[in-house]
Amino acid sequence: MADLLVTIDGPAASGKSTVARALAERLGASFLDTGAMYRAVTLAAMQARVDMADENKLLDLTEESEFSFSVREGKMAACIDGVDVTERIREPHVTANARYVASSAKVREKLVEMQRQFAAGQERIVTEGRDQGTVVFPEADVKFYLTAGALERARRRQAELRANGTGGSLEQIQKAIEDRDKSDESRAVGPLKPADDAIVLDTTDLSVDEVVAKALRYVEEKCLEKD
Ligand code: DC
Repeated sequence: MADLLVTIDGPAASGKSTVARALAERLGASFLDTGAMYRAVTLAAMQARVDMADENKLLDLTEESEFSFSVREGKMAACIDGVDVTERIREPHVTANARYVASSAKVREKLVEMQRQFAAGQERIVTEGRDQGTVVFPEADVKFYLTAGALERARRRQAELRANGTGGSLEQIQKAIEDRDKSDESRAVGPLKPADDAIVLDTTDLSVDEVVAKALRYVEEKCLEKD
């Protein structure tokens, strides 16, 4: 295992990626956005017109395709069979279909294995998703669970979409976020929930810098304890 492993889990648009990236930078650690993996498998399945309800086909596709992930300009870049899909995996229709891939036990098992392999090769790592502290890295040094009210998360997602030239009403975005919360929390495998030993940070009224500063303090305290 890495010398320092920090997990950040939480619902859609809770700020996990932004905080994980900033924290990784402050700690001189690698960063893994596991949502990008679920998104890449989803896009590959959509491109191959695989029936999303057919778990065996999804698994075959996951095993046959060549996925690669790296950090570029502070963001998780993704390639499928050598083709850069960094922007495409974040398009709304991919977001909407990701729940099928995320609820497949077989695909999750494969992606969890890839996540553990990735972490094993790093000295320090900050990894974010839904199940990082509960399922993938139960032995993590520090676990965070980020949360924020659905309306605030919808506002953040709307600002992000606008910056990319797309959009939607706040109500529509909030409804989509609440639907994803339900799907993330209710699936049988890797459901979204805080680990028993996670530090829960409600970011509703906090800026990114404030959240990162708080998280950094916890990591420093825990790691001093360890030394
Ligand atoms: O964090 P995100 O919005 O990029 O995640 C994309 C999808 O993948 C979303 O449906 C939740 C799912 N996911 C998951 O099930 N487990 C993870 N560790 C990360 C993401």
